Amino acid sequence: MSSTFSAPKGTFDLLSPESEAYLAIREALAAPLRRAGYRYIETPTFEQTALFERGVGESTDVVSKEMYSFTTRGGDNLTLKPEGTAGVVRAVIQHRLHTGQLPVKLWYSGTYYRYERPQAGRYRHFSQVGAEAIGVDDPALDAEVIALGVTAYRDLGLSQVRLLLNSLGDKTCRPIYRAALVKFLAKLDLDAETRRRADINPLRVLDDKRPEVAKQVADAPVIVDSLCDECRAHYDAVRGFLADLGVSWEETPRLVRGLDYYTRTTFEFVHDGLGAQSAVGGGGRYDGLSEDIGGPELPGIGWALGVDRTMLAMKAEGIGSPATGACDVFGVPLGTAAKRRLVTVISELRERGISADLAYGDRGLKGAMKAADRSGAKLAIVLGDRDLEAGSAQLKDLASGEQAAVSLDELITTVEGRLR
Ligand code: HAM
Repeated sequence: MSSTFSAPKGTFDLLSPESEAYLAIREALAAPLRRAGYRYIETPTFEQTALFERGVGESTDVVSKEMYSFTTRGGDNLTLKPEGTAGVVRAVIQHRLHTGQLPVKLWYSGTYYRYERPQAGRYRHFSQVGAEAIGVDDPALDAEVIALGVTAYRDLGLSQVRLLLNSLGDKTCRPIYRAALVKFLAKLDLDAETRRRADINPLRVLDDKRPEVAKQVADAPVIVDSLCDECRAHYDAVRGFLADLGVSWEETPRLVRGLDYYTRTTFEFVHDGLGAQSAVGGGGRYDGLSEDIGGPELPGIGWALGVDRTMLAMKAEGIGSPATGACDVFGVPLGTAAKRRLVTVISELRERGISADLAYGDRGLKGAMKAADRSGAKLAIVLGDRDLEAGSAQLKDLASGEQAAVSLDELITTVEGRLR
């Protein structure tokens, strides 16, 4: 048996500088939410399995095929969260947040787990930044949530994200539509697996990408044609607010999502540079979710943006990483006394908010300068015992190679000035 381990299939380690880019992307995706009054929430990595069965829906692939479920030593049935919405709504109900100011606006950032077939952009362990606005059914709120997603991508410099929009109706009109769709699907020539899916979750068949299925469902009835008056008015109002906010979208009558809780407004952000896994984010309204998991009647709307796929989209558009993690200054001590001095200089720079690192390990000049070059720093401070006696240090611009002596008394202020 091999004695070395590697990360499990479908997972990966985040290493610098990509790991820093991830942090920066998470921050950037959340920034518009913070500016719009969303508060941070963190829920546990695992929840009762039944929460997802009832919230996300037993007929979904996520629940029926992809959950990491386990029984604890104490006999509890738990599942690593495959998505964030069910846990957030559970927390809102548990802590009665809905009895305060409405809507309850929350944002989160975390890792989620789905036992999917791994491929580019699809992992078993992935990251999302999410937003939920709970307790108010107002089309203007749907538009706010969607527009904040648009802003997040725009602020990262992405210009090729498209917004796909649909309405899935509510408990009045969806069952009527569903019955019409089931009737339509019954007449088609479908394989046994697809037929089974048509019985359990007929809307998902519309999403089937295989040509033999896609061709047959091309004339299937679509939900927007069957919306009840309230859902139609709601959808019209959402589109009106989106237009006011300058958001453009593509009507996508066949857009169905992989989670069962959606009602009315549903949407996906897609990027064409990602291949098959084109959805960089998605969300919608979930007016029945709270009741499905035993809570009060509480409407809600939200989204989750995939951090991994956002990163891939940025690569596809040639957008450089927003952060590298490198320090600005790198100290190169040559000699014992010089090292004692440089250790305090580096510490002082850090105190003043400048990122700084030091060549440890008492390497010679060549080795230490190599470390400085590799560090990605802008400036190197080279200090030898003889420089110290002369009261100066060498300040080297690592990009241009230019080097000049700077008095030790002025070293900190000179470095600050050079980095400004
Ligand atoms: P979702 O569409 O399942 O929605 O996931 C949102 C995003 O997470 C996707 O668009 C994708 O970017 C990313 N994602 C999902 N699965 C994977 C995977 N296996 N590998 C990499 N990235 C992935 C939700 O999760 C809902 N909770 C969103 C929501 C919030 N709806 C209302 N509120």
